[in-house]
Amino acid sequence: MGSNTRNKWYKYLILRRHASLKRYVLKTRLLTRHNFSKLLSKYTHVIVKPVWGSRGRGVIQVSWKGNHKYAVRYENRKIIIRGRTNTYRYIRRKIGYASYMVQRRITRPTINKRPFDMRVIIQRRMYSSEWVVTGKVIKVAGKGYIVSNHTRSKGTLHRFKSGIRRSSVRHLSASALESHIDRVSIRSAKRLSAFFPGHRIYGLDVGINRKGRIGIIEANLYPASSHFLKLKDRKMYYRIMDYKNG
Ligand SMILES: Nc1ncnc2c1ncn2[C@@H]1O[C@H](COP(=O)(O)OP(=O)(O)O)[C@@H](O)[C@H]1O
Ligand SMILES: [Mg+2]
Repeated sequence: MGSNTRNKWYKYLILRRHASLKRYVLKTRLLTRHNFSKLLSKYTHVIVKPVWGSRGRGVIQVSWKGNHKYAVRYENRKIIIRGRTNTYRYIRRKIGYASYMVQRRITRPTINKRPFDMRVIIQRRMYSSEWVVTGKVIKVAGKGYIVSNHTRSKGTLHRFKSGIRRSSVRHLSASALESHIDRVSIRSAKRLSAFFPGHRIYGLDVGINRKGRIGIIEANLYPASSHFLKLKDRKMYYRIMDYKNG
């Protein structure tokens, strides 16, 4: 099993094949010309990313702009390509034969015009089967980036409620949204734990849209704690450490 812990496609299937999680998991397929075309036609915007990726490496956004034009965004660059076949070829040239996936993009709300998503930490203690959300942080993408990974995009971090209050979804109830995210996150941890017995921590990347709809982007088995160390308030950081210790 070992290496499956970092296989995004495997973890996607675990979550997607659970009846009460299905609607929260963004539809994903392995990248083929056919699947690329199908998801792009259906959703207009897709994210292409490596099955074995981490830290935002290799994440590409493709958007249909109408009139046979496609916008490809990668790192902090953006180019326009004519034709879907050309667009697919361009991406293939970039990524070679590595295993990639294509995923529905969730249209994220913004803080200072930059999109954000969040990292949710779910843990259990050593001899307990009770999963608890111990940390939650809003990650805002850095200027020009689509990925919110803190180090890659030089983005900013916010505590959940204060981030929501200063965002383009300040009209949503932060408490209602938070409890919904917590419920979905705990359900995800329980589901994953059936496949990774003995594992006690998960870090979910969760997106929301303008209406407060939740979309699970990916599940991490080795989430960094550094996000929480960078917040002025260290409470969540110490809680995460406390759970890690037993
Ligand atoms: N389907 C998606 N919709 C919107 N944003 C996404 C999507 N997939 C990835 N992203 C953005 O790219 C970042 C990196 O993608 P992710 O799947 O978490 O891979 P990694 O392992 O590199 O962190 C996410 O944190 C998010 O900011
Ligand atoms: Mg991630």
